[in-house]
Amino acid sequence: MIDLSSSESLVSDDIDLSKTVGEIYADDAKMSMRNVNVFYDEKQAIDNVSLDLARNQVTALIGPSGCGKSTFLRCLNRMNDTIPICRVEGDLRLEDEDIYAKKLDPVLLRARVGMVFQKPNPFPKSIYDNVAYGPKIHGLATNKAELDEIVVSSLQRAGLFNEVKDRLDAPGTGLSGGQQQRLCIARTIAVSPEVILMDEPASALDPIATAVIEELIDELREKYTIAIVTHSMQQAARVSQTTAYFHMGKLVEMGKTEQIFTNPVHELTENYITGRFG
Ligand SMILES: Nc1ncnc2c1ncn2[C@@H]1O[C@H](COP(=O)(O)OP(=O)(O)O)[C@@H](O)[C@H]1O
Ligand SMILES: [Mg+2]
Repeated sequence: MIDLSSSESLVSDDIDLSKTVGEIYADDAKMSMRNVNVFYDEKQAIDNVSLDLARNQVTALIGPSGCGKSTFLRCLNRMNDTIPICRVEGDLRLEDEDIYAKKLDPVLLRARVGMVFQKPNPFPKSIYDNVAYGPKIHGLATNKAELDEIVVSSLQRAGLFNEVKDRLDAPGTGLSGGQQQRLCIARTIAVSPEVILMDEPASALDPIATAVIEELIDELREKYTIAIVTHSMQQAARVSQTTAYFHMGKLVEMGKTEQIFTNPVHELTENYITGRFG
């Protein structure tokens, strides 16, 4: 039985955490991360993690609170750059491009690798302007008609257009939580990303809004590569094709979602999915 009183004790001497079990490589990788270490000052939050994000798939990152899921996700579009004490090491690539290369502009990277956060965070602007903002600053439209087209198609792809088409000038913050989150997804889509990162995107939503978001995620993978952090194993099982199980900064096991949830190889993965901790 595992002692829940201290997270340190979860890794006893007889549990091997020295290497990831399962399949970390994808035949058709959109992003490849190798030997990633992340530190907050002296404290190591990610310990030698390597994994691929398979193109046009949803990869779920799961594991107990504090295991490093959000930290790892934020490495993928250099959001950790905004945390002064945070240091990232390793080789991280989008297609074959080193995303930590000196010449690379993180603002452009974040258009290619967009992010949706736990709490919907629309700008204090109209629905239209929330979606138009990114295309404007990145110069993606040459005139108003083109901008309108981007706004409408992004709202459509985010499954929100029909609900808001008569009030595009209304404030985005006036929408329901689930609608706000879809607005944030539309805002992310509007700059034509290749990868979408989602950090517990439905955890602040009610079950109906959650179901809508989950269905949307499944549709979005046709066009985008998606990584989603979730603390809901049911959600991971519903939306993802590949699952990565993190534990205390290490990637313990990765594989096809169905296998991870029905037939995990690592003892820690099994403990987690059977609810013994987490
Ligand atoms: N901004 C930060 N400053 C210092 N430590 C942090 C920061 N963000 C996360 N951490 C630490 O890094 C570890 C991993 O956190 P996090 O990535 O948020 O885990 P998860 O998303 O799996 O809950 C935790 O020990 C957490 O306290
Ligand atoms: Mg987190």
